[in-house]
Amino acid sequence: MENKIESLKSQPIALVTGANQGVGFQIAKELAANGYTVYVGSRNLSNGEKAAAEIGVNAHAIQLDVTKQATIEAAIERIGKEAGRLDLLVNNAGIAHAGKPGRTVEEVMESGRAVNVSLDEVRTVWETNVFGVIAVTQAALPLLRKSSAARIVNVSSGLGSLTWISDPECWARQHFGIVYAASKTALNAVTLAFALELEKENIKVNTTSPGYTATALNNFQGTDSLGVGSREPVRVALETDGPTGTFTGPEGPMPW
Ligand SMILES: NC(=O)c1ccc[n+]([C@@H]2O[C@H](COP(=O)([O-])OP(=O)(O)OC[C@H]3O[C@@H](n4cnc5c(N)ncnc54)[C@H](OP(=O)(O)O)[C@@H]3O)[C@@H](O)[C@H]2O)c1
Repeated sequence: MENKIESLKSQPIALVTGANQGVGFQIAKELAANGYTVYVGSRNLSNGEKAAAEIGVNAHAIQLDVTKQATIEAAIERIGKEAGRLDLLVNNAGIAHAGKPGRTVEEVMESGRAVNVSLDEVRTVWETNVFGVIAVTQAALPLLRKSSAARIVNVSSGLGSLTWISDPECWARQHFGIVYAASKTALNAVTLAFALELEKENIKVNTTSPGYTATALNNFQGTDSLGVGSREPVRVALETDGPTGTFTGPEGPMPW
């Protein structure tokens, strides 16, 4: 046990939320391959354990539902006890809708139109994609403050770009809606709020878009592989001396 804790203390420490599958899993895998000790956040512990076993010895499953404060606090307390600090937080967990799993992107868009969407569905999605990020980030701050190169990377979406959406020529315009896309706009605003606040403490906070990646979130209709989708979040995550308050995607800087 003591050896395990010593190795935890000598490697950079990362927590990735929603890392049992999809983009989060790939981010966790690549961080582990880059020498990080990675806490694989999963709301279902056994799914997290399977993912961590697949990643290897540098990965540790941790139960964390970003909408449940008690699980957030328990996860942070455990990381504090085992590792003593956190160098990197990746707020990746996200949902596209609150309906039955396996709905197509087209079905989700249709039921999520601003004029008819259920407010309960908006609240459920924002609870994970926006309020969950605020809750996990606030809880993690005491451990991040113990790192000499603390970074927070949020996983957003190009669909959250108001610059894109307000351009009549932009492809993304037809996919905008209050449930998911606007939650990512809000996440971008939350990212900047934390970035401004934490700049004086040299804690970097950035937001990234994976691009359209084939995962359960879009019923595997995405066109990019997990390797491509995780590339930008991983690049920003590994950049210990990079800028703060940026929004970037697979093709570089993204407009807010
Ligand atoms: N795929 C894309 O094209 C795309 C594009 C732009 C942005 N993104 C963003 O990328 C991130 C990852 O999504 P993905 O595409 O990889 O989808 P995914 O495969 O469905 O993965 C989402 C992950 O978030 C977890 N999660 C959901 N609600 C949670 C909660 N309350 N607490 C903790 N974990 C929770 C899921 O856990 P379960 O396994 O238990 O459901 C899963 O591990 C999301 O923020 C998404 O918005 C994806």
